[in-house]
Amino acid sequence: MGKAIVYATGLTKNTKNLAQYISKKAGTDIFNLKELSKLDLSSYDTVIFGTGVHAGKPYKQVTEFIENNRDALNGKKLYLFISCMYNDEKGDNQCEKIATDLGIPDAVYFNKKAEEMNEDGFPVAVDDFIARL
Ligand SMILES: Cc1cc2nc3c(=O)[nH]c(=O)nc-3n(C[C@H](O)[C@H](O)[C@H](O)COP(=O)(O)O)c2cc1C
Repeated sequence: MGKAIVYATGLTKNTKNLAQYISKKAGTDIFNLKELSKLDLSSYDTVIFGTGVHAGKPYKQVTEFIENNRDALNGKKLYLFISCMYNDEKGDNQCEKIATDLGIPDAVYFNKKAEEMNEDGFPVAVDDFIARL
């Protein structure tokens, strides 16, 4: 049983860049919801969702996919990473709300205001997230 990243990204492709980095480091398969009509998750025991945020909301492809695949996701280990511009209390609150709405409590968010970047130009918090997967 393997791990899959399932994400949606916008024009700036920040979520895509994060997804590709995490996929490479954690050895996961990777799926862009905007380029797929169907996705079979039966061979995965871990699914990591990724989304950007517009007006406080995750991208609708991610919301709809989770809503439409509740049964298929049941019993799997689920994670969520959010690419956004808010940080501190605003970022924490936004992340918590999105995690609750999507029903994925294990959620983290990343943005470019992170204090510490790794040598690949991603927040070091991304490497901490990868280590937990
Ligand atoms: C129209 C628009 C609305 C946004 N609204 C929010 C927001 O409500 N909260 C937030 O933290 N970031 C917001 N952002 C920032 C994006 O979520 C952030 O740049 C993210 O990295 C984009 O990911 P993507 O490049 O994969 O689309 C917004 C960006 C745009 C363009």
